[in-house]
Amino acid sequence: MKIVVLNGSPKGLKSITMQSVQFIKKKFPQHELEIINISQKANKIKKDPEALKNILEKIKASDAVLWATPVYYFLVPSQYKTFIELILQEDDNINAFRDKYTAVLTTSVHLLDHIAHNYLNAICDDLSMKFLGAFSADMHDFLYDKERQRLLLFVQSFFNGIEKELPTTKKHEPIDYQAIKYRPSKLDRRIDIGKHKCVILNDAEENQSNLANMANEMAANLRGDVEVINLYDIDIKTGCQGCYHCAYDNTCRFEKEDEFVEFFHTKIEPADILLFCGTIKDRYLSSRWKLFIDRTFFKQHVPYLRGKQLGFLISGPLKKNPNLRQAIEAYSDLMGANLVDIITDENESSEEIDALLTSLAQRLIDFAEKDYYQPRYFYSIGGMKIMRDLFWGKYRFLCQADHKFYKNNGIYDFPQKNYQDRLLNNVVIPLTRIPSIRKKLYNSVQEEMIKPYAKVLNKIT
Ligand SMILES: Cc1cc2nc3c(=O)[nH]c(=O)nc-3n(C[C@H](O)[C@H](O)[C@H](O)COP(=O)(O)O)c2cc1C
Repeated sequence: MKIVVLNGSPKGLKSITMQSVQFIKKKFPQHELEIINISQKANKIKKDPEALKNILEKIKASDAVLWATPVYYFLVPSQYKTFIELILQEDDNINAFRDKYTAVLTTSVHLLDHIAHNYLNAICDDLSMKFLGAFSADMHDFLYDKERQRLLLFVQSFFNGIEKELPTTKKHEPIDYQAIKYRPSKLDRRIDIGKHKCVILNDAEENQSNLANMANEMAANLRGDVEVINLYDIDIKTGCQGCYHCAYDNTCRFEKEDEFVEFFHTKIEPADILLFCGTIKDRYLSSRWKLFIDRTFFKQHVPYLRGKQLGFLISGPLKKNPNLRQAIEAYSDLMGANLVDIITDENESSEEIDALLTSLAQRLIDFAEKDYYQPRYFYSIGGMKIMRDLFWGKYRFLCQADHKFYKNNGIYDFPQKNYQDRLLNNVVIPLTRIPSIRKKLYNSVQEEMIKPYAKVLNKIT
């Protein structure tokens, strides 16, 4: 069989994900696996129609397609996203993928890998492909025989499915969506933002689009230091290459080659209130937004929106795309921002959108004034624990910037450091082996658990 492997790693063949693909090639010599370096060649593929045509020809001639990619910010790298957008632009392109068997292989550290997998599954469904499953490997799994064997079982089942022409399930309905034309009221409601600084960042491609109108109307709601910036006006020459040059001291290899880092330091970092405004393209925001997010990787795992109030304005069918909502919430949480609300153009009337924008403006300012941040969700609490283990151990020598940050901010809060808990456990666990004590303990769990809370509450007048 002929399998086309669409490589999402910007590192080309020097990719961890591709080591698994090379392994599959070795173990299944009877099948031809052709690797196409999509992310590495994304600019060429975008500019040169022949390059895209060539890839589509190979896909048409294949028996199946394997999407093999690293997870970048709980999705795929921006370069891969650019390619997906390119395919979805033309019916002819989509037809090359139609009815092909397909599977997904990713490597990551399992930080929200499920969002990337949901996304790729949805893209395969949108391309009318026959989805035979996905495999999310930890980036180190390949080093262990047991995990390599697991991968072989997955691949074997993929190949069997193709050979036996198994029927497959579809998880996602196509999204059919037409927004109203948003006509802002342009009422002068200007709310004073006081000493705060606000940046409204958007990826509007047309002046009168819903997104441009929402971004401008939000600016019109605010009085003070407010700046509207279009992401396409920033010179960003390349996507993140995953080179880890930044891991030593947060210095990006491309710092001098384009405007991204300077833009980040001068516009994003000083802002207290941020509005991220994006257009939905396929099942996520645009690849331009993904480019922005990926390039912030030079900050490594510092929650770089800490202390900021954040709102999202979205043009497109967010209600039909819960995975994107989750990606936005996860991003905001992991970056430490206070996500106040997400406003879309999925409303019945322009007046409704106007009212929601004003309400968001008021809440952003109110929270900024009061310095309010919602408690963290699972995304950042769980995420920090995954990263904490890596920076404490295996990756400390590489990710020195992160190690310093985690150390200085008390994030190395390993439970074994809590000597009081350890002492308690050492005393109580042996005691629970005595049936009468065990019975007493478990019968009083509810009461005992609430005791410290009741103590605090009783002191409050
Ligand atoms: C810009 C960037 C973003 C990343 N984001 C995530 C992430 O959200 N979740 C995760 O588990 N790993 C993340 N990683 C780790 C990579 O997915 C992991 O190292 C992967 O194995 C790299 O594969 P490759 O060598 O094939 O490119 C990220 C790495 C980079 C460089």
